Amino acid sequence: MHLTVEPRVLYFGTPVVLLSTSNEDGSANLAPMSSAWWVDRSCMLGLDETSQTTKNLIESRECVLNLASSDLAGAVDRLALLTGSRVVPDHKLRKGYRYEPDKFKAAGLTETASERVRPPRVAQCPVHLEAVVDRVHPFGEADSGLVAVEVRVVRVHVEESLLVPGNRRHIDADRWDPLIMKFCELYGDSRNVHPSRLASAWGLGRSGA
Ligand SMILES: Cc1cc2nc3c(=O)[nH]c(=O)nc-3n(C[C@H](O)[C@H](O)[C@H](O)COP(=O)(O)O)c2cc1C
Repeated sequence: MHLTVEPRVLYFGTPVVLLSTSNEDGSANLAPMSSAWWVDRSCMLGLDETSQTTKNLIESRECVLNLASSDLAGAVDRLALLTGSRVVPDHKLRKGYRYEPDKFKAAGLTETASERVRPPRVAQCPVHLEAVVDRVHPFGEADSGLVAVEVRVVRVHVEESLLVPGNRRHIDADRWDPLIMKFCELYGDSRNVHPSRLASAWGLGRSGA
């Protein structure tokens, strides 16, 4: 039997991306996000328009999509309640977010240079997609505060151990264990791999409280 329900979020499960962008002063910002999907060489990123990441994407038109494997759940969670915005927006202040200028350090992650764009890659992520911004679309209702940023991948780096041996065109799905955000919880291999600060802050934990 199906019930008609009113879920608070419709996040049924998408891979976690650590999005690196360049701030105005050339330093790097890094933010976890999960509203991402790919078709061909393009990717659509669903973003809060008040995020530093969104501002950087609109201004610098470049980013790196660093795909997190499930063993990086702790690092992702350390970034959950941080923002690169010096002035923390009210809706984030109320949830306990704070300004952090060095998110790589805060997460315990390492910057490595990109080849085609300025923002750095995250060394610990097994997949790096260097990308440029093609278009920024309004998203959702008129006052949603959301945008959909369409990016085009210009370079792909994959940890060698994920490849079918000797084949640079084929990633072995069995070897790729993406970190998945289901509702606001963190899963890998379909197991809840780490408590989620995001879920606690937004009152969207597994208890449904
Ligand atoms: C696992 C996870 C997934 C997230 N997914 C998104 C998302 O898809 N879109 C978004 O705008 N924010 C998402 N967030 C929230 C951002 O990370 C948060 O707004 C952060 O403060 C942005 O940092 P910035 O202001 O430095 O860009 C997610 C957070 C976590 C922990």
